[in-house]
Amino acid sequence: MILLTFSLLPLSTFSSEKEVLQTIQSLGSQLKKELKSSMRKSPVNAIETCHIQAPKISSELSTKDLKIGRVSFKNRNPDNKPKDWMISYMEDFHIKKIKSPYLVVQIDSKTKGLIKPIVTAPLCLTCHGENISTPIQHKIKKLYPNDKATGYKIGQIRGFFWATYKE
Ligand code: HEC
Repeated sequence: MILLTFSLLPLSTFSSEKEVLQTIQSLGSQLKKELKSSMRKSPVNAIETCHIQAPKISSELSTKDLKIGRVSFKNRNPDNKPKDWMISYMEDFHIKKIKSPYLVVQIDSKTKGLIKPIVTAPLCLTCHGENISTPIQHKIKKLYPNDKATGYKIGQIRGFFWATYKE
């Protein structure tokens, strides 16, 4: 029993880069699944689904030592505003168009950060594109009066997944 506790301890406290990427991938695929099934019923209701599910799934997948979420310079949810440590790396992806799929950075002596771009796909344009239907615009304005997340084209970086963790 003691042995078991000791061998599980590091796993619950420290995360490898691989685990962090897997957690981010779960967030992405769970969100896409929710989005696709609710879009089939009604795109207006899908906004409500994103509104409820995106923060919920992010916090369900986070632990004390591994936090994940989404961020954008043109954020829809005010909580998804960039944090200080992310800004220059997000700019690197936008401006220098670096090709790495993600970046790992040292935030302080104990904490690492990871950011991974999220690219705009055709599916995203209904709610983030240039021509958004009036009912969708209304619903977005109601839930997010300061929304900045429209005007995107396919292939542009819509935002990033982020993670902070101990390694
Ligand atoms: C049905 C409308 C809808 C569609 C389609 C949609 N989104 Fe969103 N998106 C939202 C809503 C609503 C939020 C705010 C969620 C929240 O409150 O956390 C959001 C937030 C985001 C964020 C977090 C940053 C921010 O702006 O707050 C990213 C990144 C994002 N969406 C990317 C995408 C991508 C990529 C696609 C296509 C695969 C997509 N979205 C499709 C409605 C949508």
